[in-house]
Amino acid sequence: MGYGSAKNVLPLPELRGVLVKSHDEVLHFRCENTPATPSAAPYHCHCSHDHPPGPIVAPAIISTPDSPKNSFGMIIPKLLPLWNGRSKTGRQNMSTLQNKVAVITGGNSGIGLATAKELLEKGAKVIITGRRQSAIDEAIKQLGAGATGILADTADLVHTDALVQKVKKLHGGVDILFINAGVGHFFPLEAATEEQFDQIMNINFKGAYFTLSKFLPLLNEGSSVIFLSSVSATTGMANSSVYGASKAALNSLVKVASTELAPRKIRVNSVSPGPIETPILDKAGFDEASRDGFTTAMKARVPLKRFGTAWEVAKLVAFLGSDDAAFITGGDYVVDGGLAVNPFFA
Ligand SMILES: NC(=O)c1ccc[n+]([C@@H]2O[C@H](COP(=O)([O-])OP(=O)(O)OC[C@H]3O[C@@H](n4cnc5c(N)ncnc54)[C@H](OP(=O)(O)O)[C@@H]3O)[C@@H](O)[C@H]2O)c1
Repeated sequence: MGYGSAKNVLPLPELRGVLVKSHDEVLHFRCENTPATPSAAPYHCHCSHDHPPGPIVAPAIISTPDSPKNSFGMIIPKLLPLWNGRSKTGRQNMSTLQNKVAVITGGNSGIGLATAKELLEKGAKVIITGRRQSAIDEAIKQLGAGATGILADTADLVHTDALVQKVKKLHGGVDILFINAGVGHFFPLEAATEEQFDQIMNINFKGAYFTLSKFLPLLNEGSSVIFLSSVSATTGMANSSVYGASKAALNSLVKVASTELAPRKIRVNSVSPGPIETPILDKAGFDEASRDGFTTAMKARVPLKRFGTAWEVAKLVAFLGSDDAAFITGGDYVVDGGLAVNPFFA
């Protein structure tokens, strides 16, 4: 079996093979003819790259005489949903997450749930966590086959240990770790209590920190870790002292973890949303009037004049989790309608 030129093209009826995906996500047709075939092996496929084959992404295909041909006269087997995503240049338009295993903490709601849907659509196997069994069950009903729900309070390290063991048993390793679980509580400095401080820090920072730390043995080479941070880490919004600090701590962790984990080719990034329409504000303890006031003021400040959707964050997370982002690590990526660059209400 060989790669790299189109010189030794097999007669059409003898062409058998599989689709393989190379390191750069390009699909190639790989011959599966053996030396038992009458002419000399190895046979070469239409592939200009010098690389070992990637994982097989389609079962063996036997071409038929009416299958389309490529410019070298080789048969492109009639398959393929997989082929449909390709552009005219022959590249896939969007990277697939086929066969990747993704763990999403806080996946029963909002951004976590939207990301679970996005990753499933792209072919990943998804595990979501949450601290309420009923909410997890409801989310799994929406997500359907391919998703598993595991009850785990991110602030409780015993739960995190158990989560790691369950994921290990289910899948052995993890390719995408989306550390998303978080709470938002907002109050002025003088109103802060130790209890509120500990709750926010234990979930948003300590829980996130140990989720990464305890999942390290399960992270596959080349895997992607994404933390859900916030523009509050850097914008100095009033009443966000503890919440903003919990997210700023994540941004610092991303930088250190990305350098520590680079030798294992594990990428670590964060995503920082601005205001996103999710249930988080309902859980933040605002009364209706304060919630409406906050929403109106925030919309006025965002240059695009609206809240973002959970879906818009999920797309960015899916990209960072994919091999399309293979050279991206140690960064924080803002999805905020321009909020961070608009310090004045306009
Ligand atoms: N929405 C925004 O405007 C915005 C902006 C910037 C950053 N963020 C961040 O985005 C992340 C997701 O929030 P969201 O807006 O999608 O809100 P959400 O709908 O409330 O989702 C938060 C998720 O985290 C879970 N969670 C909270 N505490 C947990 C714990 N101790 N253990 C396990 N799971 C826990 C929640 O479960 P329950 O349903 O049980 O609470 C829920 O599934 C958070 O980290 C948040 O800080 C949100």
